Amino acid sequence: MNTDQLKAEIKRLKQEKNVLILAHYYARPEVQDIADYIGDSLGLSRQAAHTDADIILFCGVHFMAETASIISPNKKILSPTAYAGCSLAEGMTADDIRVWKKDHPQGIVVSYVNTTAEVKSETDYCCTSSNALKVVQSLPKDKPILFGPDRNLGAYISRVTGRDMDIWQGACFVHDRIDEQSILQAVKDYPEADILIHPESLGAHSEEVLSSGRCFMYSTAGILDHARKSSKKQFVIATEPDTLHILRRECPDKTFIALQPESICHYMKQGGLWEVKEALEKEQYEVKVPESLRARAYIPIERMLNIG
Ligand code: 13P
Ligand code: SF4
Repeated sequence: MNTDQLKAEIKRLKQEKNVLILAHYYARPEVQDIADYIGDSLGLSRQAAHTDADIILFCGVHFMAETASIISPNKKILSPTAYAGCSLAEGMTADDIRVWKKDHPQGIVVSYVNTTAEVKSETDYCCTSSNALKVVQSLPKDKPILFGPDRNLGAYISRVTGRDMDIWQGACFVHDRIDEQSILQAVKDYPEADILIHPESLGAHSEEVLSSGRCFMYSTAGILDHARKSSKKQFVIATEPDTLHILRRECPDKTFIALQPESICHYMKQGGLWEVKEALEKEQYEVKVPESLRARAYIPIERMLNIG
């Protein structure tokens, strides 16, 4: 099958089986192009919650498909590959949280959505990079916050809110390479550009970066929003480089430069058009969180969705 035949077959199977295809901005460009909705973690969760489709094919990583299963237990959730991991989600286990809570019995656990269903089931509030600030600001000031697993997002939120948080020392291997020095170099090299940075980046919480006046921290969807609305013509993008695919398509009159084009999330690239077609045809690989776990893991997600 050539690419056009693959795309036609995907379209046919999608209609026949009433499937919603969701893709993260870091998925392969050709997969983004056949998706019904492209989004960041929060946007994709919201789409999963509101669809009328019978099947959701989630072109992202495993924890995202799990989150869709937690939110939409009556839908069939498929993933194009058997298991697409995440260095961040795998850096904190449910046992880790249980020990952490024992050491801080008054603590409120805030977990980034990049976690397993087991971790979510031990969590008080979930958050994504879009709403982490709102979630932390909504919590009582007299209670300690246990924030995990991303140390860079945690340090950024702590700096902006002024809240002293206990932060788990996990990291995303893609964003942890985006350091203060490379961001400040971009500020010098591109004097006309806005520098749009994902807060999982190592340099996101640097004082010098934050006070530069040219650097803006956003979730992936926030980066897109800033670039679309800004009257500026040049942007340096400090996150996974396939985010530039939709930016270049939507804003052809603007220039986008990937700060670290080699810092690629290979987990997100596992499924291509062939795997998508196979997943629709064979209804594989199903991701289903068992009901007893799902019910507990849903509580922090629901709290997050209610906060915004
Ligand atoms: P967002 O989708 O919230 O921007 O997070 C980025 C990420 O690393 C997803 O795995
Ligand atoms: Fe995980 Fe980082 Fe890849 Fe996102 S970009 S899936 S956080 S490894």
